[in-house]
Amino acid sequence: MKLLVIHGPNLNLLGRREPEVYGRLTLAELNTSLQKHAADRGVEAAFFQANAEGAIIDALQGSDADGIVLNAAAYTHYSHAIADAVKAIGVPVVEVHLSNVFAREEFRRHSVIAAACKGSICGFSALSYRLAMDALIELLSNK
Ligand code: DQA
Repeated sequence: MKLLVIHGPNLNLLGRREPEVYGRLTLAELNTSLQKHAADRGVEAAFFQANAEGAIIDALQGSDADGIVLNAAAYTHYSHAIADAVKAIGVPVVEVHLSNVFAREEFRRHSVIAAACKGSICGFSALSYRLAMDALIELLSNK
């Protein structure tokens, strides 16, 4: 089984970007911990980060993964193009957020991609990603 983790805009700055909101873990550290989480479960994991919407759509379309963990970052709140790509690929996608988007500004409380995804997890920092991976592993194992 192969999983792809996609990180959207500004997540390349994790560790120094608003650490009180997003924590002090860098993107490289987060990916290393997720790689281990996947390996411990006998699953292959690949990682991709882009700031550009089109690059995220290309990654979704070009993926050969069995399931995708997607933190579309700010695109979550307005990218109908990413939502359409999620719908188009026919691969289960789980939406994740490090922060609890429902406890933040009004514009973050709405996701235009959520309805296209299998489910959404937010508010647990790096654990959001691990929970999403575990959800996909269970879902794909019971297929
Ligand atoms: C985020 C939440 C988004 O609202 C924000 O734009 C991000 C990160 C999160 O992981 O908490 O860039 O997706």
